[in-house]
Order: sequence, then structure tokens, then C-alpha cells
Amino acid sequence: MKVDIKLKKEIDNSYEIIIDSFRGFETDVKVAIVSNAKVSGLHLEKVLSKIKAKELYIITIPDGEEHKSLNTIEYILNRLFEHQFDRKSLLVALGGGVIGDMVGFVASIYQRGIEFIQIPTTLLSQVDASVGGKTGVNNSFGKNLIGAFYQPKGVYIDIDFLHTLPKREFSAGVAEIIKMAVMFDRSFFEFLENSDLRDNQEDLKKAIKKSIELKAAVVSKDEKEQGIRAVLNYGHTFAHVIEKETNYQQFLHGEAVAIGIVMANELAYNLNLLNKSEKERIKKLLQKYNLPTLYKIKNIDSFYESFFLDKKTKNKKITFVLPFSIGNFNKKDDIDKKIILNVLEKFKN
Ligand SMILES: NC(=O)c1ccc[n+]([C@@H]2O[C@H](COP(=O)([O-])OP(=O)(O)OC[C@H]3O[C@@H](n4cnc5c(N)ncnc54)[C@H](O)[C@@H]3O)[C@@H](O)[C@H]2O)c1
Ligand SMILES: [Zn+2]
Repeated sequence: MKVDIKLKKEIDNSYEIIIDSFRGFETDVKVAIVSNAKVSGLHLEKVLSKIKAKELYIITIPDGEEHKSLNTIEYILNRLFEHQFDRKSLLVALGGGVIGDMVGFVASIYQRGIEFIQIPTTLLSQVDASVGGKTGVNNSFGKNLIGAFYQPKGVYIDIDFLHTLPKREFSAGVAEIIKMAVMFDRSFFEFLENSDLRDNQEDLKKAIKKSIELKAAVVSKDEKEQGIRAVLNYGHTFAHVIEKETNYQQFLHGEAVAIGIVMANELAYNLNLLNKSEKERIKKLLQKYNLPTLYKIKNIDSFYESFFLDKKTKNKKITFVLPFSIGNFNKKDDIDKKIILNVLEKFKN
């Protein structure tokens, strides 16, 4: 005997990302803005003045990656229950990627799913975390291991929020922009070489838009990360090891990615994929934003072994995403261990 449960249906998860000064919205449902004290101190007033809702609540959670946890999720859920939010209510994430990922996750599970809107306030979250629908939290076993794919109803990107962002945080976001350019778009890379996103607001908007378009193109082909989405991992295979080795203390994620890009390029160069002058050009662009490009590997063997701890390492094979010229990439999962160790050796001193 069997019962067929037919659930095949087309779900349209499309949504809009608006890159403009935040104009707000009006709604007749309950709304909760989730933020932390730092971001709300700087930007809540402006956001509040532009949202008209049936009832509006503010939920303040502690700042920092260490609070990206199930505890905080439960805290937010409890506030929603207290305020008697229902399935029509709306959440707004106001903050960086940490807040965006958590609010998205809460939205995906509160009464089996309610709508949420993102207002990302860091460059990294504007270009990266707000696209693709990955939500979730960390636990003692690792980063982002608990979560869901869940798309927002909309994303508002306003570069005015970035004026209060520390320089280091800004540059960390630029590292992800550079990653996209090197992978997918040579003319975008050249545009970045000829501009300075720190003091040209129009170019900054263009760069954000372009990065989002490039990421969206990948994500819409591969929402659940079965294949091509893995190319977004350029520089990240190395970065994750560096972040782990330094206990997530020394570098911001984007900074570790910058070093990871330099390492990946060195590998690509050793495999005769990438030539020396392009390798140097990429490094120079990272350095323009004061991003670190050096990391002293203490123990090559343990660095190498750490590649296998990455959740994206499948069947004992390490997949490297490598540029073979600026704007074009290759995926390699059969690189000889000796070659990898040789490259790591260069980062020993
Ligand atoms: N969902 C995804 O696809 C995706 C992609 C990339 C990263 N992420 C996640 O995003 C997180 C990193 O995001 P992040 O770099 O935005 O870090 P973050 O959210 O921790 O923000 C960095 C710091 O800047 C502060 N801040 C935020 N906006 C500010 C502003 N306008 N002015 C001054 N300070 C401000 C924050 O309070 C925080 O202290 C990680 O948890 C990562 O896993 C998710
Ligand atoms: Zn990243």
C-alpha cells in the first residue's frame, strides 16, 4: 500500500532589492524591528520615522557574532509571542549580517514562517548577506550550521547607513565585492581599479548593484547550493582556515577573505592558470583598501588538514575555486597535495 503525497508546486521566491535612500513603507500589520544597541543608536530614528504600521515594536539584541545563537533566536521568538504576533506580522532586520541572518531564521520558523524585510547597514551585508536567502545561527560545532533557506519579502539598501561604519568594516565588505569582480566580470574589476568606493558615492552604489546582480545570477541558478553557488567560495577555503586558526579574533571575515584570495591566486599561479601581472593587480586592489594580504602560517601540515574540516569539503576532496584570468574561474578538486603544500610554504615567512 502507498499514499502519494503530491507536493510538486512552483514557489515564486522572487523579491526586490531597492538601492536608494530609505523611503520607508506603510502597512496595516504588526511590525517588529530587530536591531542591536549600536545600530539603533545610530540609525533607528531615521528608520522609525519612515515606517507606518498597525503596531510597531523594537526588539534589541546584543551585538556580535558570539550572540548569533539559538539563545538569541529564542529571545526574539519570546518577544514576538508576548506581543502576540501572528502569521501576517512582519519582521524587519536592521543591522549587519549577524542581525539579517538571525531575523531571517526567526521569520522562517515563527509560526512556520512569516514575512521579513532586510535593511542591511554594513557593506558586507548589503552586497553579500542580503542576497541568497541563507539564514541561521552558529553553535559550538561551527558557524551557520543551524538555519534555513528563506527569502525576504524585500531588501532596502541605503548607502547613507555606511557613513557610520568603521573603515575596517567597510573594507571587509569591499573584499567580497572584489571577489565577485575577479570571478565573474573583468570590466567590473577595471571599474574598481579606477575608482575609490570610499569617496565616490555614485560608484559605491554602482558597485553594490553590480555585486548583487552577480550574486543573484548565481543564486537564482542554484538556490540551495548544489553546484555553481560554490564558486562564491573563492578565497574562502583558505579564509575559513585562517579564521579558525586565529579564533575569529584577529581578522574580520572580509579581511580573511582578502588573504584567502591572495593564497588562492598563488595556487592558481603555480598551476599556470593565472599570470603574474593579474595576480599582482588583484593584490594591489585589495591593498588599496588596506586589506591584509599576508598571513604567517605556523604549521603547514595542520593548515592543510584544516581544509578537511570545512563543511564544504566533500568526500575528502578539497574544491578550490581559482581564477584563470581576471573575470574567469575554474573549479579544481584534484590538485596534488604537494603543489598545495608548496604554495602554503610561501606563506610561512
Ligand atoms: N546570509 C548570507 O548569505 C551571508 C553572507 C555573508 C555573511 N553572512 C553572515 O553575516 C555576518 C557578518 O556580517 P557583518 O560583516 O555585517 O557583521 P555584523 O553584523 O557583526 O556587523 C559588524 C559590526 O558593525 C556594526 N554595525 C552594523 N551596521 C553599522 C553601521 N551602519 N554603523 C556602525 N556600525 C555598524 C554591528 O553592530 C557590528 O558590531 C556573519 O555572521 C556571516 O555569517 C551571511
Ligand atoms: Zn564571505
